[in-house]
Amino acid sequence: MTDRKKINLPYLFQKVQDKEPISWLTCYDYPTAYLQDEAGVEMILVGDSLGMTMLGFDSTLPVTMDDMIRHASAVRRGAPTAFVVGDMPYMTYQPSNELAVKNAGRFMAEAGCDAIKLEGGVAMAPRIKAIVEAGIPAIGHLGLTPQSVAALGGFRLQGKSAGLAKKIVDDAKALQEAGAFAILLELVPDRLCKLITEQAEDCIIMSLGSGPDAHGQLLIYHDMFGLYPKFKPKMAKVFGNAGEVILNGLKQYVSEVKSVAFPEKENYFGMSDAEFDELSKMVKK
Ligand code: KIV
Repeated sequence: MTDRKKINLPYLFQKVQDKEPISWLTCYDYPTAYLQDEAGVEMILVGDSLGMTMLGFDSTLPVTMDDMIRHASAVRRGAPTAFVVGDMPYMTYQPSNELAVKNAGRFMAEAGCDAIKLEGGVAMAPRIKAIVEAGIPAIGHLGLTPQSVAALGGFRLQGKSAGLAKKIVDDAKALQEAGAFAILLELVPDRLCKLITEQAEDCIIMSLGSGPDAHGQLLIYHDMFGLYPKFKPKMAKVFGNAGEVILNGLKQYVSEVKSVAFPEKENYFGMSDAEFDELSKMVKK
């Protein structure tokens, strides 16, 4: 395990000060969290995208708080150093401030998260405020917000026109005033992301498919390694085709089982002649 120091809020704000972009990835399980921590990934998002990437749903909407807690605590165990963010699932914060605080608290107390993220702008600013007042660091999420994908008209670029972009600028201001320490901008034009980043005060702006001018970048882990079979968004860069490597390995396994090339001597254990003779006598009819 790494002997790096635990990443905290002062560390992240120092990176902004130093103009050193922050690395952020989604993660949902213990072994991947271990690898991400070892690689030096600074922030991890246990996203409700796990509904699609891990559970095979067509959207994030069926994901529950219990699903999130189970996955977030596994990630925390695998990644003791990274700054772990729990993503609040659909309808676990929208209905009221009280529900939002209660569920945000579960991420902290039950899963050991460092912060939570929720989707939405002006309308969700009171939720952010209530969560922050409860002592929980909160991140806002604007632009393409998957929980509202039906209302947004699909997985597509947001804030393309000046009018729509201005609304996102206003949303970002509202979230900052409410106390969000960071805002994720997903799939908005690069110039809009740059503008919001330049105007941000005491708020870390992160980009997912929104260009290079934010304080850091987020990617969906499954997209960057070819692990999501249904589609690959344009914004994702493939850093290695693990999906192909695994598929080839699986095909080879099936073939080796059929041809009895597997298992080999080193894959199983023997028994001494004396013990086996003894056993044979014991089971003889
Ligand atoms: O759930 C998630 O992984 C997310 C990303 C799409 C930002 O919210």
